[in-house]
Amino acid sequence: MISRRKLLASAAATAVLSRLNITKSFAAQPKPQVPLIISTWNNRGANEAGWAILNKKGRALDAVEAAARVPEADPKDTSVGYGGLPDRDGHVTLDACIMDEKGRAGSVTFMENIMHAISVARAVMEKTPHVMLAGEGAYQFALANGFKKENLLTENAKKAWEDWKKESKYKPVINIERHDTIGVLAIDAKNDLSGACTTSGLAFKMRGRVGDSPILGAGLYIDNEIGGACATGLGETVMRAVSSFLVVELMRQGKTPQQACEEAIRRLVKKTPEYKDLQVGILAVNRAGEHGAYSIHKGFNYTLSLGNETKVHEADHFIK
Ligand code: GLY
Repeated sequence: MISRRKLLASAAATAVLSRLNITKSFAAQPKPQVPLIISTWNNRGANEAGWAILNKKGRALDAVEAAARVPEADPKDTSVGYGGLPDRDGHVTLDACIMDEKGRAGSVTFMENIMHAISVARAVMEKTPHVMLAGEGAYQFALANGFKKENLLTENAKKAWEDWKKESKYKPVINIERHDTIGVLAIDAKNDLSGACTTSGLAFKMRGRVGDSPILGAGLYIDNEIGGACATGLGETVMRAVSSFLVVELMRQGKTPQQACEEAIRRLVKKTPEYKDLQVGILAVNRAGEHGAYSIHKGFNYTLSLGNETKVHEADHFIK
């Protein structure tokens, strides 16, 4: 049985934590496990590129950018960068954002003909007084900063678009080829966090459509005092629920990353009557190096690199 002395000590500790606005569960977490990099979907190549930087005591910001550039350059990845499926008019348009440990952020949206949207987003953060550049403005900014014009529409993506045009059905595909938007979160050896998010968006979308990925708080959010979160799946739903910001705020209130991801998906489901027809997956980490992942449907997975080991894990899900 717990002694009176222990009980009083525990009550006193709880009172101190409460005055400091720290919940007991958060304060009790284990020693930080860093560095760490985690990304949405099966993304070993991306994680390995980021891990190579973290392992040499590099900065989390450099790691998440390096990781995001891998799927951006992969013609086989049909939902990110080069090889991404186009909009209904046949144009590949990219959305991306990046956020660092100081809370600085950069974003590009509806940008065409530049492969590495994540690096343009970083340049917006570092070289302009703005957070987001869109369309032609983002493209011109990229050219002025040394990025080269490239055709991002591969033969395969063009063929898929031509096939799609025969019926022109407009319905989101759940777990498209088991990957979608790439969100990456990293904690470096200094215990600083950064995140990146990059996508070509919903396949065959309306021209001008922008998803959650370049929107801070929706597709990605980082708060170095608390943790970070990113989302993948149907952006319209994620934007309405501001899911990444919500997850970070739930962690601030004392939830673990897993509890925060589950609560954010439950709230999103509540606001989305058609939730059974779409997929959203959320990933989160806190400063203690704990992570969480949750989705609406089965099939969302994520890649975690920790202590020189990279593994793909299946996320738990709302619809059982
Ligand atoms: N999550 C990517 C998009 O909806 O565009």
